[in-house]
This record gives sequence, C-alpha cells and structure tokens, in this order.
Amino acid sequence: MKKVRIGIVGVGKIAVEWAHIPQYNQVENCEITAICDIDEKKLREVGDMLGIPENRRFVDYKELIACEDVDAVDIATWNSVHCEIAMEAVRAGKTFSIEKPVGMNYKEVKELYDFANEKNVESFVCLSWRYRQYPRYLRYLVKNGKLGKLYHVYIRCIKDSGLWEGRKREWRFDRSRAGSGVLCDLGSHMIDTVRFLGEEFKEVSANWGIFITERPSEETGEIVPVDTDDWSNINGVLESGASCTIQLSRCATTIPDLIQFELYGEKGKLLYTYLAGEQSLEFVDAKDKKSEMLTPPDEFAAIQSKSFVDLVDGIEDEYTAKLYHGLECQAVIDAARISCEERRIVTIDEIKNV
Ligand SMILES: NC(=O)c1ccc[n+]([C@@H]2O[C@H](COP(=O)([O-])OP(=O)(O)OC[C@H]3O[C@@H](n4cnc5c(N)ncnc54)[C@H](O)[C@@H]3O)[C@@H](O)[C@H]2O)c1
Repeated sequence: MKKVRIGIVGVGKIAVEWAHIPQYNQVENCEITAICDIDEKKLREVGDMLGIPENRRFVDYKELIACEDVDAVDIATWNSVHCEIAMEAVRAGKTFSIEKPVGMNYKEVKELYDFANEKNVESFVCLSWRYRQYPRYLRYLVKNGKLGKLYHVYIRCIKDSGLWEGRKREWRFDRSRAGSGVLCDLGSHMIDTVRFLGEEFKEVSANWGIFITERPSEETGEIVPVDTDDWSNINGVLESGASCTIQLSRCATTIPDLIQFELYGEKGKLLYTYLAGEQSLEFVDAKDKKSEMLTPPDEFAAIQSKSFVDLVDGIEDEYTAKLYHGLECQAVIDAARISCEERRIVTIDEIKNV
C-alpha cells in the first residue's frame, strides 16, 4: 500500500498530544516523514519520539515543504503564521491541512483561498467538531427534519483554562500571534458547527472582555499584559431567520469543559451536552413534551486526520472541512471582532466586500 507521507509544521500540543499524531497513528495509509518547529527542544523530543531522522527535522518550514519525502503538509503552529506557511505549500503544489482559525483575518484567508484555487491545490481545515460522533448525528437529525423549521440555536462553550494556576502568557494570550482569545479559539468550532448544521450567518453583534489582564512571560517570568479576550458573547441572526447566541469563556470557575448546543425548532428541542468527556443528546417533542435520550449510531464516528489523508488521496465526503469552510468561519469571526471593537452590528456581507 502506498502511504501518504506527512510533514508536520508545529509540533506542539494539538499535533503531539491532543489530535494529529495520535490520529495519524490510527490511519494505516499514512506516515509522518518530517517535522518542523522553531522550538529546537520540541523538535528534538518529538523527532526522537517518532524516530524521525535528523535530516528530516527542520527549523525552517520552507525546507520541510520542499522536502521530497513530504506529500502533504500539516500546519499546526499558532495562528499568525498559518497562512504564510500554507501559501508556501500552495507554491510547492502540496495538499495542506491547517489548524483553526485559518488565519488572523478574512483578507489573508481569502488571499490564500484564491491562490489555492488558482494553483488547484487541495486544502483541509481542522474544524474538529465535524469529526465528532454526536455533532455528526445532530447534523443528520437536523438535516432530516427532526426539528422542522429552526427557531433558536443556543450554544455554550465554557472552560476554566484561563484560570489554571500560574499559566504563562502563551501565544493564546498574545493578540499578535492569536488574533483574538476565546472568540477565535473556541468560537471557530462553535461558528463552524452552526454552519455544519446547514445554517449561514447573516449578521452578528458581539462583546468581549478580559479578566486576567497580566501573566508571567514564558521567556523571562516578568509580568506582562494580556490582550486577548477571556470571554465573548456572539448574538447572530442566521440567513434562515433563526436566532443564534454563542457564549464563550475560559473563566468558568467550576467547569473544566462544557459545550452545549440547544436547538429549538417547530417540532421540538435537541440538546447536546459535552461535560468533561461525558456526552448526551436529548430530544423533547414540542407536542407532548416527552423527552427521549438519543445515541448516535457507530456509522457517525470519524477520525479527523483520516479525512485529511483521504483528501490527499482524492477522497472527500459531505463532512470534509475544506478551506472554503474555514473562510466562511473567518468571516463570522471578523464580523464578531469588529462588532466588539466598534460596538455595532456587523453583517457578513460587509466583511466579504472589504
Ligand atoms: N482543532 C482543535 O480542536 C484545536 C485544539 C487546540 C489547538 N488548536 C489549534 O492548533 C494550533 C496550535 O495550538 P497548540 O495548542 O498546539 O499550540 P502549541 O503552542 O502547543 O504549539 C504550537 C507550536 O508551533 C510552533 N511554531 C510557531 N511558529 C512556528 C513556525 N513559524 N514554524 C514552525 N513551528 C512554529 C511553536 O514553537 C509550537 O511548538 C493553533 O492554531 C490552535 O488554535 C486546535
């Protein structure tokens, strides 16, 4: 079997511990042949862990992308360099995967999108909720009319990760590398899930704030300011006329990780809850108010990295998250960010017409 040879740029948490490498390890027809990181200590540790030869460990992403043993590029750095690395992959004609949010703003993502289309290079975005079993099943139910006409989408994604004792000013707390805080970090997934359910945003108004205004520098330990949002609330009107509210926080004192999608339609309510690893899905019938717990069938299970490897092999399906989806998501993030900054309602058309 010919294996897809993957080069990973950025061997941090998401690549090494949380998703990419653990998932590639479950996919038969791929292998990791090269890695890149500007942090030489991480490069050495991950290189040793994976058994990557010294001459396939790079500090400069351009060398990894040019490497003849790399068929496809997996970009898992912090946000500010996603697009420049992807542009280089397009120049080399290599399919790439890019973490969310795709970029720092709509303009740079649109330039990437146009360039990739012009050069006919395939691309994938790690909008991970599309590969989770419950949201896939939720989408199936919604698309197949379980709720009828949709009235309200209420989403909550709240965590305590901004309150971890002694947490340093990592890139997530630095606007020049992150773009924004929970708005683009957690917001990407939540906004994409709304689109994944078949809805499109028309306009948003949003607000945000910072509780932990300074943290120790990673390099010196000196106390330095934080300039990304700890919380953000997005109020959206969807093209269908449904209302959508998204609550995001990394300062939910007692909650490690809570995600809820509460959808109200003419036929009833669907409530999906993820709480620290436990999941449930409830349907309440609008007529008799009876509640029923639903379990997604096995066919809705998926592995994100497998979908990327499939895309490199020319296989995709209705769930595959491509650059187009990342671009649409970025438009909503930009609209919400501008709404926070200028304290006004912002339409998605305004973002796209800039
Ligand atoms: N899909 C998800 O559910 C999910 C979850 C967490 C993080 N993420 C995304 O993954 C990305 C990385 O997050 P993380 O938590 O792994 O961060 P991290 O800080 O643990 O890792 C990022 C790595 O990128 C490296 N890097 C930065 N610039 C580089 C460059 N120019 N060339 C090579 N390497 C470079 C850093 O040295 C670091 O090792 C972010 O875009 C984040 O939003 C996605």
